[in-house]
Amino acid sequence: MCGIVAYVGSRNAQPILLDALSRLEYRGYDSAGLAILNGHGVEVRKKSGRIENLAKACQAKPISGSMGISHTRWATHGAPTDSNAHPHLDASGKLALVHNGVIENFLELKEKLSKAGHTFQSDTDTEVLAHCLGDAYAKSQAKGEARLLEAVRQTFNQIHGTMGIAVIHSDLPGLVVGARRGSPLVIGVGQGENFLASDTQALAPYTNRVVILKDLEIVALHADRFDVSSPLGSNTQIKVEEIENGMIHSDKGSHPHFMLKEIMEQPRSIENAFRGRLDRDGGTTKLGGLNMSADQLRQIQRISVLGCGTALHSGMVGKYLIEDLAKIPVETQHASEFRYGDSPVSRHTLFLAVSQSGETADTLGALREAQRRGYPCLGICNNVASSIARESDGGVYMHAGPEIGVAATKSFTSQVMVFALLGLLLGRHHQLSANHGAELLDAIVQLPEKIRQTLKHSDSVARVAKTYAHSRSMLFLGRLANFPIALEGALKMKEITYLHAEGYPSAELKHGVIAMIDKETPTVLIATQDGVYDKNLGSLQEIKARGGPVIAVAEEGDSKIQGLADAVLQVPKTHELLQPILNVIPLQLFSYHTAVALGRDVDKPRNLAKSVTVE
Ligand code: M6R
Repeated sequence: MCGIVAYVGSRNAQPILLDALSRLEYRGYDSAGLAILNGHGVEVRKKSGRIENLAKACQAKPISGSMGISHTRWATHGAPTDSNAHPHLDASGKLALVHNGVIENFLELKEKLSKAGHTFQSDTDTEVLAHCLGDAYAKSQAKGEARLLEAVRQTFNQIHGTMGIAVIHSDLPGLVVGARRGSPLVIGVGQGENFLASDTQALAPYTNRVVILKDLEIVALHADRFDVSSPLGSNTQIKVEEIENGMIHSDKGSHPHFMLKEIMEQPRSIENAFRGRLDRDGGTTKLGGLNMSADQLRQIQRISVLGCGTALHSGMVGKYLIEDLAKIPVETQHASEFRYGDSPVSRHTLFLAVSQSGETADTLGALREAQRRGYPCLGICNNVASSIARESDGGVYMHAGPEIGVAATKSFTSQVMVFALLGLLLGRHHQLSANHGAELLDAIVQLPEKIRQTLKHSDSVARVAKTYAHSRSMLFLGRLANFPIALEGALKMKEITYLHAEGYPSAELKHGVIAMIDKETPTVLIATQDGVYDKNLGSLQEIKARGGPVIAVAEEGDSKIQGLADAVLQVPKTHELLQPILNVIPLQLFSYHTAVALGRDVDKPRNLAKSVTVE
């Protein structure tokens, strides 16, 4: 997790570091810090809390200097305090380090260093890394730049874990050393100035020319040049890429929060997911990035979807779509579990790694594991320059545009849309008729308008949210493809309101969960008119019989539900396979308005980060 930025050039580093860092806050926001070479030595400012706290501290006491490193943190080792914030210094106080990743053997290293007389100011693994680097630097016989590079290489061999780092040393003005193992790092190539950052978004106002460092590469960065080398020290070939959307910097527009803006953007983001990909005549879709021939598509006998959180929920909806359209069995797995599990995988299995950011460590690790075992792996990502997008054998981009709110909203609906497109394509290579394909295509084309219609109910969802905002706990129920929608509704509610919420298949109610029902515990029941509508009505009656309030997600004009439920969140009707896309929208709005009613920090809920880049 965490975001890092480094700058070396001729401008004042402090405002650049603060500005670039603010674009990485999605990677963590519990503390932030920077270190600048001020002409005399390394000067550090660090503060717990948001980057704005650091900015205030820097305004009160600015640091002058034209090179430095900075960091925004998501705590792994040690509480989010000033002293645990990065940068961390080595024993000499001359070397400063920022780090994104986790050092797994830090306790062992700390013990060894402590015995050798080192003392530590923080509880972090990163400070141990800084001391290891400083120790290796002190012992090295090399001179100048080579000495710091050698120290980084030696430390690489000592540590277990992941790191994206930027290091400066007061004896080496004009040099920033960066290195990566597991964690992403990019070079931003400027004119008379260069940058390092955890991702390209940080660099948007400064340059769109980037070098994406490969794993284990080390870079020596100066204002006018940079040299990239392998862990063994040999120079490596670099490719400077020009990125297109790197300059896009989102703002909230007229919305009070990014989350609401992103919910409201869904008519457009869904359209972007299918634009140019529909083949009405063939009753199918065109997905150019799969890099698979028609024969290879026909040979797929099983699909395994890997993802985390919301991305996994989209895969669970995707399972219903693909199984229905293509009759290919699909299993979904928490990426983190697959990675270390022993479950056998049958031959002719295609893996799909789903991730908005494309940087989620668990999903990336699972993708690499599936590739190691020799399976074809596709990525379903939003972030085009991401690690998962680059490392998978092919894939489908969501084209949802930047998603800044920590709660995933438009990326979820776009992911489900991608599954629909993929299901159609696979279906047409297996047994689906062109007519059935065309029916779904018609419904896909009409979907943006139906989403617009759904969003018009936002105010009435807000009223329902206000009524139930002070509940201690909520249940979310749905069946079949709407079970993952119940899980997604509960996840949204938990992460931005901190209320206890659980998602279940409706029929599981009677197997234990029903004991939770009382008049203080509302149940959100997804009950649109599908094949299990009557069964859902049965569950509704069981809840009402025990005095529990029911908030139903139901189709507009469903008078039966209106007569039974305490509140109804209305959605228009669409093709049954696409209905989950509409059904999730009132749940996104419900959690959003509940969080607002409770005065929560909607876009940056506590303890979370947008992108989970550590295990
Ligand atoms: O970037 P990814 O899609 O890989 O992220 C996966 C999850 O961390 C993410 O969906 C998380 O569950 C969201 N914050 C939920 O709203």
